[in-house]
Amino acid sequence: SPVAVLGVPFALGADRRGVDMGPSAIRYGGLSTALDTAGVEYTDAGDLALPTLQSQSATTDDGAKYLDAIAEMTDTLADRVATEIADGSVPLVLGGDHSIAMGTMRGAAQTAELGVIWFDAHGDYNTPTTSPSGNVHGMPLAAAHGYGDFAEMPWATAPNVAEENTAIVGARSLDADERAVLRESDISVFTMEDIDRRGIGPVTDEALDIATDGVDDIHVSLDLDWLDPDDAPGVGTPVPGGVTYREAHTAMERVADRDAAESVLRSLDVVEVNPILDQRNTTGERAAELAASAFGKRIL
Ligand code: ARG
Ligand code: MN
Ligand code: MN
Ligand code: MN
Repeated sequence: SPVAVLGVPFALGADRRGVDMGPSAIRYGGLSTALDTAGVEYTDAGDLALPTLQSQSATTDDGAKYLDAIAEMTDTLADRVATEIADGSVPLVLGGDHSIAMGTMRGAAQTAELGVIWFDAHGDYNTPTTSPSGNVHGMPLAAAHGYGDFAEMPWATAPNVAEENTAIVGARSLDADERAVLRESDISVFTMEDIDRRGIGPVTDEALDIATDGVDDIHVSLDLDWLDPDDAPGVGTPVPGGVTYREAHTAMERVADRDAAESVLRSLDVVEVNPILDQRNTTGERAAELAASAFGKRIL
């Protein structure tokens, strides 16, 4: 299917400004060239018009900052993603902080049972009650499942996303409550230790088996802080000990292989690129190249 690129210049789910420039950084980092090289048919639908920091009054709720603006963003993005999918496209959503995945998953899950693979240093399984920071980019996966406080916030949830079909890959920074919840849940959490022991290829293949088991399609969410900060320094919440650039490509290549065989990739988001924290635009370039790998780009 053709790819529909959607920019979501949104930063209110994160502590640091600048992640709203992510869509520009990824495009400037060579997205169109990389997709052309991959032979991917795509259109760039431009950026969504969204609430900005300047348009916000003070924080509405200390447990979860800017929740009203995030609800508005989620609504707008979910509608747009659902429309693109209905038109036969695969949305490639460029963040923006990771709270935007709430919108992508809500849109993608509207008409399908959806598995999810979350490539991230973090679990993003906090709730307004458990979050140590109040930043909603640390909560989108819990929101999708309607976990905890999110049971009362239907706008934040993605119906048809089961814990059993959810895999987190590359986790290395979990808050105490988050860790306890994930251990008790039916979510599959592959840590960096699993990747070190087994290799990124087998781990990604198992994550794909879990996410695709008995569902229609999958959503893949790629947080650039999944990579080691040496390879992708332009992120707001860097954690040492991440995957290398090559491991990240291998994982995206496995996603593309599975999609080529079974047509499972319903939507992809690429998030947390913050060019003002970067040296040049390394992280934007990495994001562009990895997105192309996920859609089948090969060296030869
Ligand atoms: N766990 C931390 C928090 O809740 C960090 C979350 C980082 N999330 C991200 N998408 N970068 O604040
Ligand atoms: Mn994340
Ligand atoms: Mn992260
Ligand atoms: Mn399909």
